[in-house]
Amino acid sequence: MRVVLKNPLDMHLHLRDNEMLQKVAPFSARFFSGALIMPNLVPPVTTKERLLGYKARIADAIGAESFEPYMTLFFKESYDYDFLSDIKNEILAVKLYPAGVTTNSEAGVKGVDIRRLGPVFEAMSDLGIPLCVHGESEGFVMDREAEFIPVYEKLAKSFPKLKIVMEHITTKEAVEALERYENLYATITLHHLYITLDDLAGGLLRPHLFCKPIAKRPEDRMALRRAAFSAHPKVMFGSDSAPHPREKKEAPGCAAGVYTAPVALPALAQLFEEAGVLDNLQKFVSDNAKVVYGVNPPKKEVVLIKEPYRVEREYCGVVPMFAGESLKWRVADVI
Ligand code: DOR
Ligand code: ZN
Repeated sequence: MRVVLKNPLDMHLHLRDNEMLQKVAPFSARFFSGALIMPNLVPPVTTKERLLGYKARIADAIGAESFEPYMTLFFKESYDYDFLSDIKNEILAVKLYPAGVTTNSEAGVKGVDIRRLGPVFEAMSDLGIPLCVHGESEGFVMDREAEFIPVYEKLAKSFPKLKIVMEHITTKEAVEALERYENLYATITLHHLYITLDDLAGGLLRPHLFCKPIAKRPEDRMALRRAAFSAHPKVMFGSDSAPHPREKKEAPGCAAGVYTAPVALPALAQLFEEAGVLDNLQKFVSDNAKVVYGVNPPKKEVVLIKEPYRVEREYCGVVPMFAGESLKWRVADVI
């Protein structure tokens, strides 16, 4: 059995910078036509100079591969219309992090207060710049996403022309919110389609599956699967592949993030085939994002075949999801 994926897109990717960027970028660039690059560097990507410098370093790291890094800017409440208008052609979206909710988000916003931040959302709405959001409250870790839904609703209602992407959704509440507001969209990761909290902490603790938002309950995973498997037009694949060096994961204070870029397409093919919905994978990993973001990525065809493939135990010091395990599908060719 085989499937050919045209122009796969990863609409939520952490490529990091410098040495780590050099190590991980080739894996995304090989299998994907493009990706939405997250801006949570230290310091974050908040100026045109930093953005263009980062884009140039990404171009250097991917070499000759045809791969489009769609750039994002790290949301600051100080952005004004003129600044956003000037940078608009260099970015695909602005990413908002509440301060402290995840890796390198300390420079994020303190409270998503619509009155205070309104002028920035208004400017983005007028300029047609989508807003990507890490939607978690400061509450109990399992409840953080569900508690954030009213914020999404208020945003969606107050700025009906603003495209709002709920990033890496993990709950049935978030899936349900998609139906209530025309301007709400979502990305779903590979790991949240596969795991629940049990896989992370139900037996021996598996730090390489620890991420934010944390994996939730079986009924949440079921809602995510329903949305992805049906290729819901408002749902896109975004891996949230987030590499950390092994020693930062296998540590008393384990960093949040699951590294999935090298295994994402075979693992998705396996999951969609097992669900009997392989025909919907093309929409989930490319077509939906092309429509939502209005992008036309470089041409690439990834040929996947149903043959066992043993995942590496480590890629340059980073442990991937499924490390040392066997997947049922593998990439046979990239054209
Ligand atoms: O687990 C996560 N890791 N979630 C995020 O939102 C950020 C990411 C990272 O940058 O490591
Ligand atoms: Zn992320």
